[in-house]
Amino acid sequence: MSKIKKIGVLTSGGDAPGMNAAIRAVVRSAIANGVEVVGIMRGYSGLIDKDIKPLAIRDVSNIINKGGTILYTDRCPEMLTEEGKQMAIATCRELGIDGLVVIGGDGTFRGATELTLRGVPCVGIPGTIDNDVSSTDNTIGYDTAMNTVIELVDKLRDTCESHARCNVVEVMGRDAGDIALNTAIASGATAVAIPEFDFDEELLFEKIATSRKLGKRNFIVLISEGLGADYAPALASKIQTKTGVETKFARFAHIVRGGNPTLKDRLLATLMGSYAVDMLLAGKSNIVICERDGKIVDGDITHALKLDRMYKGKLAPGDLDEFTAEQIDEMKAECIERRNAMKTLYEIQNKVNL
Ligand code: F6P
Repeated sequence: MSKIKKIGVLTSGGDAPGMNAAIRAVVRSAIANGVEVVGIMRGYSGLIDKDIKPLAIRDVSNIINKGGTILYTDRCPEMLTEEGKQMAIATCRELGIDGLVVIGGDGTFRGATELTLRGVPCVGIPGTIDNDVSSTDNTIGYDTAMNTVIELVDKLRDTCESHARCNVVEVMGRDAGDIALNTAIASGATAVAIPEFDFDEELLFEKIATSRKLGKRNFIVLISEGLGADYAPALASKIQTKTGVETKFARFAHIVRGGNPTLKDRLLATLMGSYAVDMLLAGKSNIVICERDGKIVDGDITHALKLDRMYKGKLAPGDLDEFTAEQIDEMKAECIERRNAMKTLYEIQNKVNL
C-alpha cells in the first residue's frame, strides 16, 4: 500500500498546449488509485500563497482539447529563496499533501528538487513548447507549437508568392533551435538560423538572388529567438539590401503557445500524467518523466538538469561532482547524440529546401 493519500498538481513556467491533458490524466489516474488530488493555482506561487482547490473527476472534464492551463501558471522568484521553499513545504504539511506532480520546464524541475530535498516527494512532467529538456525526446506542447508555426508560415507563403517577397520569421524556443529547425524543414523554408550552428548569411543572400533570377517568387527564412531579438529584423533588412528582394519580418512570439493541442501532445500528456502518478505511488521522487525512443520512462531530475546544462554548455564548476566517470561519459554521449540528430536535420534542410 502506498503512503501517498493526497497529491497536488501544478503547472509552472511558460504554458504549453497539452498541459491540461496532463492535469486531467494526473487527476483521473490518482483518483482511480483512491488518491485525493488538489490543484495548485499559478504554479509554485499558489503553493506559497495556499491558492489551492480540490480536483474531482468532473473538474477535469472537457479540457483534454484545450490550450493554456486551467491551473494557470507563473514564474515564481520566491521559490529561489529559502523562505519561499519553506512556505511551500508548510502548505503541503498543513493541507496533508503527500506528493506533487509538477508540469513545466527546467525552472519547474529545480523547484521540484528543492521540495523533494525538504521532504515533499515530487515528480516532474516536461511541459514546454521549447523541447529543451535534454533527457526527453519530446516535451508536451512542442508538437502543437510546431504545427501552429507551419500553419502560419503556409499563410505567409501565400502572400509572399503573390507579391514576390521574402518573409523572415522569428519563432520562440528560448535557447533551443528545435522549433525553428523542424518547422523550417516542414514548411520548405529557404533557410533556418538557430543558436546551435553557425549560419552563413552571405550564402543565403546568394541563394535568394540566384533563385530569384531563376524565377522563384517566395522565400521564407526561419530564425530562432535564441539568436537575440535584433537578429531577425536586422537580417530581413540585409536580405532586402543585398538581394533586392522585398523582405518583411514577422515575430510569431506567444501566438504559438496557445491553441488546441495536437493528437501527439494529448497522447504524450496523458501517458506522462498517468505514469507520473504511478511513480509517485510507487514511492519514487525527484524524477522527471521522459519519452525516449517512443517509450515513457523516468529519470532522475538532478541528472536531467545537469544533462541540460552540459548540452547547453552551461555547466558550473562542481556540477558533475556527484557523478561517476562512467555516468559523465554517458551524459556526454547523450549530448553528442542529440546534437548529431539536429545536425542531420540541419543538413537535410539545407539540401532539400532551396
Ligand atoms: O519557455 C517557453 C517560452 O515561450 C520560450 O519559448 C520563450 O523564450 C519564453 O517562454 C517567453 O516567456 P514569457 O512568456 O515569460 O514571455
